[in-house]
Amino acid sequence: MQIIKTIDELRSIVKGWKKEGLSVGLVPTMGYLHDGHRSLIVRAASENDRVVVSDFVNPTQFGVNEDLDSYPRDIDRDAAVCEAAGADLIFHPELEEMYFKDSCTFVDMDKLTKGLCGKTRPTHFRGVCTVVSKLFLIVAPDRAYFGQKDAQQLAVIRRMVRDLNFDIEIVGCPIVREEDGLAMSSRNTYLNKEERKAALILHESLMLGKEMMEQGERDAAKIQSAIVHKIETEPLARIDYVELVEAENLENVAVMEGRILTAIAVYIGKTRLIDNTIYQFSQPG
Ligand code: PAJ
Repeated sequence: MQIIKTIDELRSIVKGWKKEGLSVGLVPTMGYLHDGHRSLIVRAASENDRVVVSDFVNPTQFGVNEDLDSYPRDIDRDAAVCEAAGADLIFHPELEEMYFKDSCTFVDMDKLTKGLCGKTRPTHFRGVCTVVSKLFLIVAPDRAYFGQKDAQQLAVIRRMVRDLNFDIEIVGCPIVREEDGLAMSSRNTYLNKEERKAALILHESLMLGKEMMEQGERDAAKIQSAIVHKIETEPLARIDYVELVEAENLENVAVMEGRILTAIAVYIGKTRLIDNTIYQFSQPG
């Protein structure tokens, strides 16, 4: 497996693959890979002849007071994970390779990017859409793989691909969790022992919401407030948001039907964690 640092070299390798008629899967990441990332790579390797993993901590999606500088990085470990999972190539560019000093073109989106994480991270999805568009144009994959862990990101990417006519199939992959339920995340490394325990409240509160839906509760406000109360029982937790929205459009719902996304963002100490579940209502209420 090769680690490629330049766009030209990557393009010429992918061109060679395409000439041979091989299909190409792309897994965009910011590195520090865990089993959640690994599941995307394994899936991509099972559905494509060649797999490219991009490993780039993208500065344009971080806000000014966010964790860009402290974001964990370990390319040697990442390379081992990628190789074992079946990737053919890691694209690991320097900042200057991805962005010109005077870059001034961005991909921006209305509506879907305004709620949930967009409320407290107003420039985040502009950074995500821009870098993912660039990766799509650089690699020109047949398929690209994204985790349901970042539910809003997945919905935004699907909409961007539709709206901008990218000829790429977007494959959404299930959330991979630790044995005790915590969703895997590179940011879990920020948690100390006590915070790691407290972080279980995210999954536990989502499970409570899911149980209520399974028992027939259709009042979104009731479920939201039950989840809020559950999270508030954990002293180290501070809620950013708890929202129930329609899974594709991310629009608020009052009475629930169809596919409902329950998405939460919670600070555990200084670390902001996100998690979500999707519940499919089988019949109209
Ligand atoms: P990153 O946080 O590194 O995540 C890369 C991909 O792995 C995303 O699609 C994310 O949803 C998925 N992922 C993370 N944790 C997961 C888990 N526990 N289970 C399943 N999938 C998981 O998301 C980004 O990077 C960036 O925004 C990126 C798309 C690369 C653009 O810079």
